[in-house]
Amino acid sequence: MPTISRRMLLKGSAAAAGSFALGAGLAVRGSIASPTPHLLKAQFTEARLASGGITPRVMTYGLGEDAATGMPPVLRMRQGEPFAARLLNGLDEPTTVHWHGLRIPNAMDGVPEATQPYVYPGDGFDYAFTPPDAGTFWYHPHCNTLTQMGHGLTGMIVVENPADPVFDAEIVLNLRDWRLGADGAFIAPFKPRDAARGGTYGTVRTANWQREPVHDAPAGSLTRIRIAATDVTRIYALKVDGAEASVIALDGNPVERPFPLDILEFGPGQRVELVVRMPDAEGETVTLTNMRGSHPWTIATLRATGASLKRDIRDVTPLPANPIAEPDLSTATAIPLDFTATSEAAPGPSICGTIGYSFWAINRVAWPGDPADPVAPLADLKLGKTYLLQVRNRTPHAHPIHLHGLSFRVVGSNKRAILPPPTDTILLLPDEHAELALVADNPGDWLLHCHIIEHQKTGMSGYFHIA
Ligand code: C2O
Ligand code: CU
Repeated sequence: MPTISRRMLLKGSAAAAGSFALGAGLAVRGSIASPTPHLLKAQFTEARLASGGITPRVMTYGLGEDAATGMPPVLRMRQGEPFAARLLNGLDEPTTVHWHGLRIPNAMDGVPEATQPYVYPGDGFDYAFTPPDAGTFWYHPHCNTLTQMGHGLTGMIVVENPADPVFDAEIVLNLRDWRLGADGAFIAPFKPRDAARGGTYGTVRTANWQREPVHDAPAGSLTRIRIAATDVTRIYALKVDGAEASVIALDGNPVERPFPLDILEFGPGQRVELVVRMPDAEGETVTLTNMRGSHPWTIATLRATGASLKRDIRDVTPLPANPIAEPDLSTATAIPLDFTATSEAAPGPSICGTIGYSFWAINRVAWPGDPADPVAPLADLKLGKTYLLQVRNRTPHAHPIHLHGLSFRVVGSNKRAILPPPTDTILLLPDEHAELALVADNPGDWLLHCHIIEHQKTGMSGYFHIA
């Protein structure tokens, strides 16, 4: 079985046309086939996140070479149209960009050693791909992720489909926490005893880097809300008060029939798209509330503005489906995957950081996520064949399990009556057994890991090799 090893890194560096020393590739002009890349610069900034003071050493992405302030930009792409971005590393440690949920070529997936070389400070990497699916996605590093994502490097992607129904307004919400002390400075990113349980929560909760922000939307409108849980730990239970709301897409894929939102649970990595019918009177508000945990709290508020557009929630029609291959269950090969706790030895040092513990495993193997070598794939998959992943959560905690580069269908579960549309991330409930069907139609090494980053970094990670 092939393994990801240091040799991959060397082979990767030599072969990586996308890698360049800063300056060397900057003069290259885009053509029609490869559009001029957006300059996406990972860099430090500071931000007012807590009430106590300014937070130094926040990490963000800026478009262009200048200093960025505030949240990473929402990247807009078009389904079926080429997109290009040149990552510049303005940090003081290696990084990469992973395009969460986009089914793109393996070489663009952003996993150091497995799919590309590390991007060291001052260096860059060119990403170019054509997103095949429309929907809400996001981007983040795949190196030293507990720190880099924890410090701010989580941004949202909107892939537009010109054939989508037209809504009156659109609001994009990036939900995440921060682990800050009373003075606003970062505190230790995790507690080992929490990493061995549900994960360590932040101390400051934000939407779009603001505490309980208020967003305006036209009164009486149908407003599309795109939400991503980009936090390293928190699972949300979303409720909307003060308006009718319809769920139109989950994890980047349209639901077959929009349905009224009651309470929806989603974990790190997952996305929710809603249409909210705003109240008719100017100034009236709609509240997005998190119901998980003992005290409900406000995520964000929407405020109606202007004269009512008098729209009707029943006019919300399904979005066009994405072109995801239909699995052929009659020929599927089963792959059992057990998610368990472990007590293996601590992982060794890694360029992408280790948090120094092993608490979790997939099929009894603990692998600390961002590559440390060598490790064998969970399974070798044949290109074009259908597989049935029999996932079993043998722990009392929920795990948002994410697969890179492919979408799967949840075809059965002992814990849910309603099955979601195709997805790249399933929030596996405690003791849930589910069956995930997929067509292995994208060649390469694709990671499968828990998106509670402490779980990923303490063993709950693996990959498939598709050829
Ligand atoms: Cu958001 Cu390895 O992924
Ligand atoms: Cu987990």
